[in-house]
Amino acid sequence: MDDLRTKYIEAIAAATDEAALEELRLQAVGKKGEVSLKMRELGKMTPEERQVAGPALNALKNEINSALAAKKAALADAALDARLATEWLDVTLPARNRRVGSIHPISQVTEEVTAIFADMGFAVAEGPQIETDWYNFDALNIPGHHPARAEMDTFYTHRAEGDERPPHVLRTHTSPVQIRTMEKTGAPIRIICPGRVYRADYDQTHTPMFHQVEGLALGKDISMANLKWVLEEFFTAFFGTEVKTRFRASHFPFTEPSAEVDIQCSWENGTVKVGEGDDWLEVLGSGMVHPKVLEAGGIDPQKYQGFAFGIGIDRLAMLKYGIPDLRAFFDSDLRWLRHYGFASLDQPTLHGGLNR
Ligand code: DAH
Repeated sequence: MDDLRTKYIEAIAAATDEAALEELRLQAVGKKGEVSLKMRELGKMTPEERQVAGPALNALKNEINSALAAKKAALADAALDARLATEWLDVTLPARNRRVGSIHPISQVTEEVTAIFADMGFAVAEGPQIETDWYNFDALNIPGHHPARAEMDTFYTHRAEGDERPPHVLRTHTSPVQIRTMEKTGAPIRIICPGRVYRADYDQTHTPMFHQVEGLALGKDISMANLKWVLEEFFTAFFGTEVKTRFRASHFPFTEPSAEVDIQCSWENGTVKVGEGDDWLEVLGSGMVHPKVLEAGGIDPQKYQGFAFGIGIDRLAMLKYGIPDLRAFFDSDLRWLRHYGFASLDQPTLHGGLNR
């Protein structure tokens, strides 16, 4: 019995997995195991022998069963320890650096422009980028034969063959939103319309898609003087420095009188600085809304009048943030975006300071 004990206790201690343990269990205490066979021999013994051998065999059986159970638990513990060791995670490690995106200068400037005009009581209006011929041209007093149509390098959509209606266009300016707003709300009106516009043109200062912001203010007594104040107020807030403007007589079909507006600037080694110097830079078109345009929008020109203007947003962004090439705005070059983009939580705002 001592031999049996030594044999199995040592073998159990040396087992390395559950399968080996099960094998040992069968060999020792299974139905045909060595200990069980010995127990069967008890019947052939004398009662005296049995009284000694019986309890001893039982004790051996219990001892082996306990050793098996203990070893099984130890193996399970070891397996768990091994797993925990490989799956160990140091939650105190600093997080891995992750590049966050940035706010595109066009989005930034659109926000700035919107904030400044909102502060002067202008709401934001929007219109479709695929526009009808009527809203983009006719309603703005640009009839079919008008040279402005040809000058605008318009993108036309296709009509089905045999469909004689004029094709839709990709809007060439944000001015059609003037008409849409007049129709929707009637006068008085005080809105800006920022958005994408399209013209078939491509070089250092032109891209086929670019951005404008239209302004429209209609009321009973709105004049050119209000236009000048609003624009000077805008440029001064936008550039963070007092900006003088120069109004030059011009012509647009949708305004009468019309003016192109220049802002004061200086040129030094090929770079412009706004708000200083003796040079002038043309930045927008404007004027008093033409009576025909008011009529097209369903507004009585005998009762209401007002001003309108259109500014290039991309141009404003280039001027304010010193961006030399317009085309880079739309290249999606990550290095450019990281350099000129704005951190989303660190955007200049009207209340936080636009010009930091
Ligand atoms: N729509 C003109 C353009 O795209 C810009 C413009 C000029 C808008 C004069 C106006 C305006 O509202 O009064 O070139």
